[in-house]
Amino acid sequence: MEKYIVNGGKPLRGEVVISGAKNAAVAILPATVLAGDVCVLENVPDISDIHYEIEMLKSIGASVERLGRTRLRIDTSTVNSAVIPHELGVKMRASYYFLGSLLSRFGEGNVPMPGGCDLGARPIDQHLKAFNALGASDELDYAMICVKAEHLRGEHIFFDTVSVGATINAMLAASMAEGTTILENVAKEPHVVDVANFLNTMGADVRGAGTDVIKIRGTRNMHGCTYTIVPDQIEAGTFMVAAAATKGDIWIRNVEPKHLESITSKLRVVGATVTESDDSVHVVGADRYTSTNIKTMPHPGFPTDLQPVMGALLCTAEGTSIITEGIWDSRFKYCDELIKMGASIQVNGRVAVFEGVEKLRPAPVKATDLRAGAALVIAALMAEGQSEIAEIQHVERGYVDIVKKIRALGGDITKVEIPEDALRKAY
Ligand code: EPU
Repeated sequence: MEKYIVNGGKPLRGEVVISGAKNAAVAILPATVLAGDVCVLENVPDISDIHYEIEMLKSIGASVERLGRTRLRIDTSTVNSAVIPHELGVKMRASYYFLGSLLSRFGEGNVPMPGGCDLGARPIDQHLKAFNALGASDELDYAMICVKAEHLRGEHIFFDTVSVGATINAMLAASMAEGTTILENVAKEPHVVDVANFLNTMGADVRGAGTDVIKIRGTRNMHGCTYTIVPDQIEAGTFMVAAAATKGDIWIRNVEPKHLESITSKLRVVGATVTESDDSVHVVGADRYTSTNIKTMPHPGFPTDLQPVMGALLCTAEGTSIITEGIWDSRFKYCDELIKMGASIQVNGRVAVFEGVEKLRPAPVKATDLRAGAALVIAALMAEGQSEIAEIQHVERGYVDIVKKIRALGGDITKVEIPEDALRKAY
């Protein structure tokens, strides 16, 4: 079992280069199926979710070659199966993007009920609503979701809830359908726009991504392309908060400052200094922060994926801060861990009330999901002394080289392997 050992209390200083966006990449890899040709992807984050999707692509007959750490050559002309093996698909959430891409190209997709972070109920009714509207049937067979269509036809689809996954899956399915599809009440996240840009580079005709309405004219003339994945706004936001929380000074490079406006504005409100330039942001921390209230919302609102890291910072902000989670039922599990570090937090359903304490104290804690893990890394960097973070596989699903990047900024974090034997003796 692996853990992080963090000796906190040191400000992070220097510069960090942000990797490609996980939530764009995990949709773009399945989307290459539409090309039936060779795609070269650049700025691909080297994280375990991507490793699983490479295996999924290979399992359906695609050939995937690494041209470098962040470059992949994917040939989907040889895809000969529409079934994602159960043991692979359940490892992550985004395996469900193979439903949209396989359905679009072959009229059939079979994917296991997806896994991913446990954030409460994660239905896929809106994905299925879109597939059904385009003419596909769906069936659940031994925990496999099977979607099938003789012929996909464009439709007017109004989503009941704003969903990143359903918006992307509908774009994938509609790209090769006959006629025009109009999607309303869609997600506007930067990764939704990035997937639309990728589809267009492969020959699709997707317009309006980033607004409330997306229009897709279906085409069968898709082809390969070379595409560079957008920088990860959540990784960038995490380092921005880490700079502020450790009273540090970090230049965050390879970012799109426009995608970071909600976190930039919150950090300024609590007292950090944030300066934007073309493709960087510079964050300088303050000695003490003031409290604030946050409500997470679909883009361009405050992103739910940065809620836990801001929670870590607010533990020591002067006064009372209230975080209201607007997307997920269960995204405050990290608060129990922060309480072990001396934080004063009351959670009631989707609302958490933080009473600022003077400082956090080191403790052994565990990551309960990906962003919870990032929050605990930041909390451990804030707390003077040695903390241990367990269950770090969650963190490594989504952050490229997090240990290396923090160490380069002067943070004292090490990944250690604790032998199972030692663990048995300890308990
Ligand atoms: N929802 C439905 N029905 C659906 C789909 C979603 O009711 O068919 C609800 C969800 O239950 C939730 C809300 O709609 O309450 C939003 O869910 P969404 O579909 O937007 O989330 P997702 O696509 O499953 C992606 C990211 C998450 C991120 C959310 C919200 C990926 C792979 N995951 O999830 O990222 O929190 O959008 O922005 O893109 C993370 O990176 O840590 C992470 C969890």
